[in-house]
Amino acid sequence: MKPRHFLSLLDLTAAELKRLMKRAMELKSMQQRGKRHTPLTGKIMAMIFEKSSTRTRISFEAGMAQLGGTSLFLSPRDTHLDRGEPVEDTARVMSRMVDIIVIRANSHAMVERFAAHSHVPVINALTDLNHPCQLLADIQTYLEKRGDISGKKVAWIGDGNNVCHSWISASHQFKFRLDIATPEGYEPKAEWVSACRKHVTLHHDPKLAARDSDIIVTDTWASMGQEHEKAERVGAFSGFMVDNNLMKLANRDALFMHCLPAYRGAEVAAEVIDGPQSVVWDEAENRLHAQKALLEFLLTRPAK
Ligand code: CP
Ligand code: NVA
Repeated sequence: MKPRHFLSLLDLTAAELKRLMKRAMELKSMQQRGKRHTPLTGKIMAMIFEKSSTRTRISFEAGMAQLGGTSLFLSPRDTHLDRGEPVEDTARVMSRMVDIIVIRANSHAMVERFAAHSHVPVINALTDLNHPCQLLADIQTYLEKRGDISGKKVAWIGDGNNVCHSWISASHQFKFRLDIATPEGYEPKAEWVSACRKHVTLHHDPKLAARDSDIIVTDTWASMGQEHEKAERVGAFSGFMVDNNLMKLANRDALFMHCLPAYRGAEVAAEVIDGPQSVVWDEAENRLHAQKALLEFLLTRPAK
């Protein structure tokens, strides 16, 4: 049987994603009540991380432990991947030994190649192209704070990057409107936009995107791997900081979201991220609960 992977939000159906969100909230409540739930006892999760991480690594490791399983964290130094052992061979070998593999990679193509040769589910923990696990937590957070996101308006302000691409996929799966404002030359990839065209509008003026929105979301202007472009990007993104003036254009009960790590005074003003509309700490916490629901879904589905 072919394993089910989670490389993009489009790998699950809309109905499966909806059920996953409900399950994430149930698992959160169980955890908060101190109810032990260990369906993954004896299961092993390997984590290959080519890039830094605070939230993703900790939430996957803590989540797997809470579900009764164990995890192995592998930095590039720890395997032969860094010394040229083919990704395909690594996938074949690892997937004979562990039950699920979580990968944070520089290149999305590497994760696709790995998944194509893995006998067990592979989860994308961020690539240069997308970050689907982040969106599970973000949608859960909106559901908890405001209810159903379908029909709402989300404004993405800033770089058309990996997290933006996953918001685009989410707009399709959860049926909300997504207005994206980027500087010229920093738009999301055209193929991601055209796959979800019905829900997405592109702008170059942050105010146009922000007006009447229910969520304003942003991310760093220089993602991991783009550090050398930082100075150039600070210039290009001038006028794209999410501050209280921009938040005022959104609906009165709009939320501010950011996947973190955040840079106060660059993509977001301290008054916003540390202000009353910000839900960034809930988003971060929900990484744990949403990914537990994902692990449970991928590892306890009945065989077909
Ligand atoms: N949001 C997120 O993925 O954070 P980390 O890079 O700390 O994992
Ligand atoms: N766009 C950011 C997200 C970090 C979670 C990056 O790729 O560095």
